[in-house]
Amino acid sequence: MIAGQHPLVPIAGSQDISAIHLRGVTAQYPASSAPALSDANLTVPVGSLVALVGANGAGKSTLLKAIVGLVPLQAGEILVHGQPFSSQRRRVAYLPQIGELDWHFPVSLHRLVVTGRYVHLGWLRRPGRRDAEMASAALARLGLDDLMGRQIGQLSGGQRQRALLARAMVQQADVLLLDEPFTAVDAESRSVLIEVLRELRRQEVTVLVATHDLESLSVDPTAVVHLRDGRIDGLGGPPYDADPGPVLEPWIA
Ligand SMILES: Nc1ncnc2c1ncn2[C@@H]1O[C@H](COP(=O)(O)OP(=O)(O)O)[C@@H](O)[C@H]1O
Ligand SMILES: [Mg+2]
Repeated sequence: MIAGQHPLVPIAGSQDISAIHLRGVTAQYPASSAPALSDANLTVPVGSLVALVGANGAGKSTLLKAIVGLVPLQAGEILVHGQPFSSQRRRVAYLPQIGELDWHFPVSLHRLVVTGRYVHLGWLRRPGRRDAEMASAALARLGLDDLMGRQIGQLSGGQRQRALLARAMVQQADVLLLDEPFTAVDAESRSVLIEVLRELRRQEVTVLVATHDLESLSVDPTAVVHLRDGRIDGLGGPPYDADPGPVLEPWIA
């Protein structure tokens, strides 16, 4: 693909730099006495879709949060497109588990999606017509155009998940971090989410998705990373168990 052809295409020359790189990452929540993630090493090439799997409490959410600076690092380093996250904020969209957000906040669905544009606006610029149009288009893509004026508190789980993806789309991020996107999602939302994920893949967006249930992903991941007790303990998972293949081996140092 030609750089610049689409806003989601990685910039020219970035192909040899990994989208996400974790080196020796140990992360610990302030109130906790032990790290939730220990010595994690992971390299995610641009344009790949990586599933993070593991039991509850394994550290999947923590790994995503560490990338966007929501958990303090005790050791190690995380780079996004070869740079610290602080300089790459625009390019990374993080979608927390919907249960982690306060959906009582009095804001319409359209307004919520427009906030995805804020990373591009700077301090003083208010969102304009173009930003509003982008939000409308993303909502239409996710089949939510009928609900634009609705308060976010009145959306179902699946609609909330779609709303967050719409917000990520208007951000035009090329790294997408999804935490359990299929939890509490109805069949219609599920199929729309999967369709959009497939589309984003074709656009070379790098996707890291935490899921306790690989079956539900329905999009073939480039690799599956297993977490257990805060550690990355391998690549695999059905149908990757038999042989993760030489391409995937170097991912975990
Ligand atoms: N905000 C928090 N404060 C303290 N400990 C936490 C917090 N969030 C998660 N943990 C702990 O960190 C570990 C990893 O949790 P998490 O990353 O949420 O796992 P997963 O997403 O795989 O279910 C667990 O032991 C969990 O109890
Ligand atoms: Mg989690």
